[in-house]
Amino acid sequence: MEIKKDKYSIKYFPADITKYVQEGQTFYFYATDTVLEVKVFSDKIVRFRYAPDGRFQRDFSYALVENLTIQNANLSVYKDRHKFDLMTDHLVVQIYKKSLKVTILDRKYNVISEDELGFHWQHYIKKGGKINYCSKKIQDGEVFFGMGDKPMELNLRGKRIENYGADTYGFKKDQDPIYKNIPFYLGLHHDIGYGIFFDNTFRSIFDFGKEQFDVCSFWARGGEMNYYFIYGPELMNVVEQYAGLTGTPEMPPMWALGYHQCKWSYYPEKQVREIAQEFRDRGIPCDAIYLDIDYMEGFRCFTWSKEGFPKPAKLMGDLAEKGFKTIVIIDPGIKIDPEYWVYQEGLKNGYFCKRADGEFMEGDVWPGACNFPDYTNPEVRRWWSGLFEEMIRMGVRGVWNDMNEPAVFEIGTFPEDVRHNFDGDPCSHRKAHNIYGMQMARATYDGIRKFLYPNRPFVITRSCYSGAQRFSSVWTGDNIATWEHLWIANMQIQRLCMSGISFAGSDVGGFIGNPDGELYVRWVQMATFHPFIRTHSAGNDPGAEPQEPWSYGSKFEFIAKKYILLRYQLLPYIYTTFWQHSTYGIPMVRPLIMHDQTDTESL
Ligand code: GLC
Repeated sequence: MEIKKDKYSIKYFPADITKYVQEGQTFYFYATDTVLEVKVFSDKIVRFRYAPDGRFQRDFSYALVENLTIQNANLSVYKDRHKFDLMTDHLVVQIYKKSLKVTILDRKYNVISEDELGFHWQHYIKKGGKINYCSKKIQDGEVFFGMGDKPMELNLRGKRIENYGADTYGFKKDQDPIYKNIPFYLGLHHDIGYGIFFDNTFRSIFDFGKEQFDVCSFWARGGEMNYYFIYGPELMNVVEQYAGLTGTPEMPPMWALGYHQCKWSYYPEKQVREIAQEFRDRGIPCDAIYLDIDYMEGFRCFTWSKEGFPKPAKLMGDLAEKGFKTIVIIDPGIKIDPEYWVYQEGLKNGYFCKRADGEFMEGDVWPGACNFPDYTNPEVRRWWSGLFEEMIRMGVRGVWNDMNEPAVFEIGTFPEDVRHNFDGDPCSHRKAHNIYGMQMARATYDGIRKFLYPNRPFVITRSCYSGAQRFSSVWTGDNIATWEHLWIANMQIQRLCMSGISFAGSDVGGFIGNPDGELYVRWVQMATFHPFIRTHSAGNDPGAEPQEPWSYGSKFEFIAKKYILLRYQLLPYIYTTFWQHSTYGIPMVRPLIMHDQTDTESL
């Protein structure tokens, strides 16, 4: 171990390599106490894992597809006095004896990625343990993409990004973090594209040259330095390979790609019927109508308001006859109410999250005081999946998972001491926060898929971690009816698509505030070309005005209808594009830079 001090910090570095061991496509480099594991997943994908004290953590990932197959790589190893060269058909991975530094080159010896300080760590002064860092040199003219839903310009150069999903009502341009946690970026320089996926669920931070203009670094507030390097050189190919690691969705039902209408909340059922009829009378196609939290009895998930929705099965049956699928919202907060069956079951079986001291995690959300299922426990996920049986039998055709960052009023989210099962390796919320929403969506998907079979499932989630695209579509959360947010939504959808999540859309027209007719139709026009199109608005707001395609007078209705009809005309193409995405991982929306990566002016 080597220690370097400056005014601001004490940094610890691995000592020099003393020996190495090869086991098939996995290599272990030993540097006194630090061990580097290099695992070659294919000729283009290499994983780096570092154990500063010689002990690796459990090799477990929520992000990776099950049964990921390692492809045979055409490997050879060369050693000299300073380094080891691991060669594949596409890459030269150089591991330097000094401090375990890594340089990755293509077979023409162009540098793709080069460690600056490389792997090092600092003591986590405030909370104990280590923070593991990796820093790389930014190459000449390098630009960066990816990282999920960040509401900012596509190119992240010069920015510092954080992943710790947050309920960010009315988020602003450049606000960070917001809802999603996708620790995956793409780098592009000299026409060479590559990706880095840092598979760590703790709060993670990526600095793309903000602190030092020529250094890119990433670290997490706990857990291991465990990242995948993915070589393109085409950006498109990087995204495809990332999808090979973290998965793609199955084909959705065709209707899920049609136009959807939502509001917080259409209430009571009479209003739902009226809205549905209005679509049909005006000849505006619409495939799905959403019920927001008010369909429930006192916001208790899996219940129906006796007053507003006394006969839900009849309502959903009638809507189905008119060609509408009914989607309902389901949040993670389960009302603490001894008379409520979901609460009773969760309590009896110990399915709710607890604090470190053994008390239940209690927090206020829509229903008031709630407990929260621990979706990181496989048994809880099975229970949760089962809860959807009755809903599906009654006619529900899709489920909308919200508030799963998880959101808690007043305190924002769970305190860090909350305990989680983490699939048999118990941990605190520090480690489980970023995958909570994804595991909720996964449990929901499993239920919907099972009970809807042979029909295809549809789930939409607000929070997620890498890999959630296997289970769910996403929307970008509580945006605002402004022109700036129209731009933000367009950036977010392109960025999500580059980050492995194509089935994505924004609240058309803006969730907060009232768009005027022009902004609304522009949004419809844009969303026509986004993978998911749904109008949604905070209709609960006292100042809220109706936000349906006909709400702005006949001139705007005509244009909105024209584009929704165009969406339906394009549906076969959109469906095929989805198939390409599902089969090959090709993003559904492709920023210009993915078509011509030599032209960084296109950004
Ligand atoms: C959250 C969601 C929003 C939903 C509302 C009520 O703000 O992001 O879409 O309408 O909760 O459920």
